[in-house]
Amino acid sequence: MRIDIVTVSPELIKSPFEYSIIKRAIDKNFVAVYFHNLRDYALNKYGQIDNTQFGGGAGMVLMIEPIDKCISKLMSERTYDEVIFMTPDAPVLNQHTANTLSLKENILILTGHYKGVDQRVRDKFISKEISIGDYVLSGGELAAAVLCDAIIRLIPGVLGDETSALSDSFQDNLLAPPVYTRPREYKGLKVPEVLLSGNFKKIDDWRHEEALKKTKKLKPGLLDD
Ligand code: ADE
Repeated sequence: MRIDIVTVSPELIKSPFEYSIIKRAIDKNFVAVYFHNLRDYALNKYGQIDNTQFGGGAGMVLMIEPIDKCISKLMSERTYDEVIFMTPDAPVLNQHTANTLSLKENILILTGHYKGVDQRVRDKFISKEISIGDYVLSGGELAAAVLCDAIIRLIPGVLGDETSALSDSFQDNLLAPPVYTRPREYKGLKVPEVLLSGNFKKIDDWRHEEALKKTKKLKPGLLDD
């Protein structure tokens, strides 16, 4: 998979890609991630990429021209399966979307900043809009990093034990059951007996029951889907 990220602040978004599972996925060529600085496509020598809104109102808006130059160049080099815009006024990211995107070849992600982007960018270039939650961040960079993390860990082969992604919370619309490790008892707090029983059928049943209980209690809406 290849992911291109178009941003005003490449430095803000880079570090999540330099650690842990995501770094390993890049090192092992499961995914290549490229950052494109919108300022390299600025209108003038002052690096202009934004302007005030027509009709008045506070906040600067990213202009269409630099974005067109950058995105059109990338699109002339390859075909993108999705061109995604990170924005709070979009459907919220969920595991189903992450699963679907993890199977794509080329993804382009545009991150907004300031007040947003000229609507014509969204109308002309964007195939999918994604929010990471109903709150507003200063820009889409952190949201794009969250999206990439959710996608990259699902690419087949990225997680050593593939079943560990399948047993994540939200796969099968269930939250993950509780997990325990050594010691068996800590200051009177015990690990449930069944997990020490060695009876894998019982353990599976228990985990399913716990996952159901937890989902009913914390996110009952998942069970309606
Ligand atoms: N940009 C600003 N806030 C955002 C959010 N909640 N999700 C995605 N992009 C954003």
